[in-house]
Amino acid sequence: MKKIAVLLIITFALLTTCKKDVYNPDICFQENVLPIFVSNCSMGDCHNSQHHKEGLDLTNYDGIMKGVKANHPMLSKVYTTIRGNNPSMPTGGIPKLGTREVNIIKTWINMGAPNSSNCKGCDTTQFAFNARIKPLMDNWCVGCHSATNSGGGYDLSSYNGVVASVTANRLLGTLQHTAGYSPMPKNTSPLSDCDITAVRKWIEAGHPNN
Ligand code: HEC
Repeated sequence: MKKIAVLLIITFALLTTCKKDVYNPDICFQENVLPIFVSNCSMGDCHNSQHHKEGLDLTNYDGIMKGVKANHPMLSKVYTTIRGNNPSMPTGGIPKLGTREVNIIKTWINMGAPNSSNCKGCDTTQFAFNARIKPLMDNWCVGCHSATNSGGGYDLSSYNGVVASVTANRLLGTLQHTAGYSPMPKNTSPLSDCDITAVRKWIEAGHPNN
């Protein structure tokens, strides 16, 4: 009896020490994880609602979770295929993910893969290009709108490129999913109201390079 009790205590101690405290408020599903999948995996006939290769639609939480085992990145297809020196995904000429993106996905899975959003709150008084608009574009849009892959003819990786979409009067309508515009980001739900408001305010302020 005593032996069993000791064994139980040891097992419990091991389990609790192994459980990593990985909570990280900088890693939120909607703002940080989803855009990586949408802008690197959902294009063309890859992983979207029409074409779900390997059974994976990577444009929403439920679809992504089909390739995730919460708390176990090494048992999660969406992580094992993108990690390491020679990852098999993304394929088809799309650049491999950077270490930063791979680590965001790993940490999020280690955190239990929560369906979280707006983890850091929202401040609509911030809409400077470099601090607010550019990171938003880099996160959500540049995978499909870069110099080498300019979806719809727009390269959103630079100030001038973003301004070109404003001058053509195409940016806000696509974000607001207005009739007559291609809804962006493509294949997934609209950005948060907070993000769209920031873009609108920046445009209304004369889209400064600040
Ligand atoms: C998965 C790839 C993908 C993502 C992510 C994406 N786009 Fe697009 N975008 C496209 C493609 C492809 C087109 C060409 C039109 C079409 O196929 O809908 C396009 C077209 C556009 C257009 C022109 C549409 C029009 O009606 O004139 C704008 C502006 C645009 N995108 C902005 C954005 C912005 C801003 C983001 C990020 C918030 C974004 N896109 C994210 C693929 C994408």
